[in-house]
Amino acid sequence: MTEYVMSLAGARKAFGANEVLRGVTLEVSPGEVVAIIGPSGGGKSTLLRCATLLETLDGGSLAFGDLTVAHDEAGRTVYAKGDALKAARSRFGLVFQNYNLFPHRTVLQNIADAPRRVQKRDRAEAEREARELIAKMGLAGCEDKVPCQLSGGQQQRVSIARALALHPEVLFFDEPTSALDPELTAEVLRVIKSLAAEHMTMVIVTHEMSFAREVADRVVFLDGGQIVEEGPAEQVIDRPREARTKAFLSRLAD
Ligand SMILES: Nc1ncnc2c1ncn2[C@@H]1O[C@H](COP(=O)(O)OP(=O)(O)O)[C@@H](O)[C@H]1O
Ligand SMILES: [Mg+2]
Repeated sequence: MTEYVMSLAGARKAFGANEVLRGVTLEVSPGEVVAIIGPSGGGKSTLLRCATLLETLDGGSLAFGDLTVAHDEAGRTVYAKGDALKAARSRFGLVFQNYNLFPHRTVLQNIADAPRRVQKRDRAEAEREARELIAKMGLAGCEDKVPCQLSGGQQQRVSIARALALHPEVLFFDEPTSALDPELTAEVLRVIKSLAAEHMTMVIVTHEMSFAREVADRVVFLDGGQIVEEGPAEQVIDRPREARTKAFLSRLAD
């Protein structure tokens, strides 16, 4: 039996009276690339924030591999103790829409700091690996620059390198290109595609349908806090079965 890298089951989350997640189950297998699509306000970011412990679930369970982060007791989520949460945090990386780099630290420092501080890795080794990641992201020569000297696309590639430096088992992306113009979008998508080719496990919230079709093994359509439809990318995007999926995709095509 293969173990899921991440499994979220029956996830529920409300903000006041607003039920944002209404029983979402998402299991991600090793090496799988899952694209999450859906209308604004449908709960995509909340789903990623709950999966990455930035928000707490009201109901449902969450595990990373064999590590249970939260289990469900009579419809209420009960979280594990601090040590388990800390261990879980080292299993995933998160790339936001707005990069969230440290503005006064160089590219090299932005990437190498967390492995040194969080994982207590040796400075020389962390910096060597950071340089390799910088080259892999097409950013050679940018090591000593600070974020404001880079384009948005370059900053986003630094934030991807920063996430990879911690050797996550799964990478989550929340609309990684929505702040970028088309040219810069392409270079970021290229990097994500190269990670997919290396079988990096990824969950990507995106509004780029052609990218989702190309990169994702599975597409999940989330609307109104529920998974309305999921399946192979060609099926969900090119031949959607559900009326809500069809309506969403045809609105995008206009
Ligand atoms: N921290 C929060 N406090 C209150 N409401 C929130 C919060 N975060 C998200 N929401 C609400 O949850 C709903 C889903 O938002 P979100 O998960 O950001 O959707 P998406 O990413 O699909 O656009 C929206 O109605 C939004 O206003
Ligand atoms: Mg969002």
